[in-house]
Amino acid sequence: MKLRALFDKVANRLSSPSPKELAAIWAWCEGRAEPLDAYGESLDPALWAEAAAFTRKLEERGRSLDIEGFGGGAAYGLLYFLVRLRKPAVALETGVAAGWSSEAILAAMAANGGGVLWSSDLPYMRGGREPGVLVSPEHRDRWRLFKQGDKDNLPAILSESGPVEFFHYDSDKSVAGRDWAWRQVRPHLAPDAVVVWDDVQDNWHFRDRMEGRVFRFQRKFVGLVDPTGARS
Ligand SMILES: C[S@@+](CC[C@H](N)C(=O)[O-])C[C@H]1O[C@@H](n2cnc3c(N)ncnc32)[C@H](O)[C@@H]1O
Repeated sequence: MKLRALFDKVANRLSSPSPKELAAIWAWCEGRAEPLDAYGESLDPALWAEAAAFTRKLEERGRSLDIEGFGGGAAYGLLYFLVRLRKPAVALETGVAAGWSSEAILAAMAANGGGVLWSSDLPYMRGGREPGVLVSPEHRDRWRLFKQGDKDNLPAILSESGPVEFFHYDSDKSVAGRDWAWRQVRPHLAPDAVVVWDDVQDNWHFRDRMEGRVFRFQRKFVGLVDPTGARS
């Protein structure tokens, strides 16, 4: 791990919320969370069904590969659905790990017939594996993976990517990490860009900084900011 990322990790540990505060944040998320199925079906039932079929396929792929130790994935069904719905030419994500989110975005782009995904992670190998083991070989030509940590990757990516139409944040979950990334990414967002924050239950970042919707996914919460109001 790069020294800078290691330093950030230690600093974040020291500033993470107390168990009591975490319980309050969880309660806030629970109180605000909308059912994902109702959201998807209200926007586009056929596309939501397609996303559900993709989800089952990806989960099957996950079971067939050695992905233990990478940790859980993001809300891949929602990501697939949003990318199919909005058809971004440029998507950016932080946090690849096994690649649930990467594969969801890339598969949706393939179904759309266009788009490039720029991804940021750390230069690590888990059990000799690269980040993104779930990413199918046929999707890799539209994938640009950077592995020097967000602080190096984001400026490099944003200098090349063009306006970002879809942004998924799933790396350093601290408020400081989210704030830093947002300062970099925000000036490069297209006016109607969709932004998804994973694990919003980790601190008050989403409540205090964003205007958006909250969804429960498995045992966590996801925040969605969509300037178009997601046409709901
Ligand atoms: C929760 S996992 C991402 C899961 C992934 N989005 C998925 O759906 O499979 C978090 C990832 O963020 C990466 N990460 C943590 N801190 C980072 C940083 N400062 N810069 C880049 N990546 C970081 C970790 O290496 C890890 O792979």
